[in-house]
Amino acid sequence: MTDIAQIEQRILADVAAASDEAALEAARVAALGKNGAITALLKTLGTLPPEERKSRGSLINGLKERVNAALAARREALKGAALKARLDTESLDVTLPVRETPAEVGRVHPITQVTDELTAIFADMGFAVAEGPDIETDDYNFTKLNFPQDHPARDMQDTFFFNPKPDGSRLLLRTHTSPVQVRTMLAQKPPIRVIIPGRTYRSDSDQTHTPMFHQVEGLVIDRSSHLGHLKWILEEFCKAFFEVDRVKMRFRPSFFPFTEPSLEVDIQCRREKDEIRFGEGDDWLEILGCGMVHPNVLRNCGLDPDDFQGFAWGMGIDRIAMLKYGMADLRAFFEADVRWLTHYGFRPLDFPTLAGGLSS
Ligand code: DAH
Repeated sequence: MTDIAQIEQRILADVAAASDEAALEAARVAALGKNGAITALLKTLGTLPPEERKSRGSLINGLKERVNAALAARREALKGAALKARLDTESLDVTLPVRETPAEVGRVHPITQVTDELTAIFADMGFAVAEGPDIETDDYNFTKLNFPQDHPARDMQDTFFFNPKPDGSRLLLRTHTSPVQVRTMLAQKPPIRVIIPGRTYRSDSDQTHTPMFHQVEGLVIDRSSHLGHLKWILEEFCKAFFEVDRVKMRFRPSFFPFTEPSLEVDIQCRREKDEIRFGEGDDWLEILGCGMVHPNVLRNCGLDPDDFQGFAWGMGIDRIAMLKYGMADLRAFFEADVRWLTHYGFRPLDFPTLAGGLSS
């Protein structure tokens, strides 16, 4: 066997034996690198007489080509084998549940959920949403709503006042959403049909009272709306909100400075141990105050009570959220405890709609 054939045999054996990229590279360097066997052969060419140089040169070049081809083939084979090995170890069980993304793990607070639910219900009846500031003037929170100056009615609601200004006037944290009735009537011409969800504040704290809580106000002003309409709206609301087919309601006479007549509304329920059910039973639960807007309030807001009339109501959002979703302690609503929110919160992409279900 010639020296060239021997070298070829050795190199090709090394290439064939290379079991990974690194071994293959070592075989290539041993053959074609600066100190490789083929490189060494090529270096000998210069010492040969011209005729011999030609024939030997073409032999060595042939060897080089075959070695290069063998290297390329082996490289491809190793790549294929590596891919196959990876595919064999990496298996994917498509029957496993999809892992939740961080956005899906987050939860919507029950207050937000219930606000969205009641907005969907009233929007379906043709109500728009109005809003006002949490920091109010005494005038809008009380005076324009027909609370007489120095009347004990102002003490009905334990108010957080700011320090008086030089002129003696005091700003306050609104004690109810009713001042937005005033803002709405001053800004819009009747017919008015709005709901006003928002934060309200009173100096009060126990299991069912927090210093900050939420109300939703309703206001309808036109020329002919009356208590019959109000009763229908509230009944339809309660059925839709508590997701029951029928619900009995009880309207009791009451007093608010800004309505005449004034009523408090109870809904039928059954209490069982810690649970409460609506649409059945013979117990009653108070859920809101309402009435016909007082002529003085209309006047204070630039409307002539001989032309315009309407009704209003105010309802605690936290209260109806507790009732609907069985949360016993209101204070937990505002403690920002992730475990509570994970338990009572709602999935972010489950928007409440009347067609798709409010809470399912
Ligand atoms: N503002 C009252 C409260 O916070 C609730 C209320 C009662 C609002 C009667 C009204 C209403 O609009 O007509 O206690």
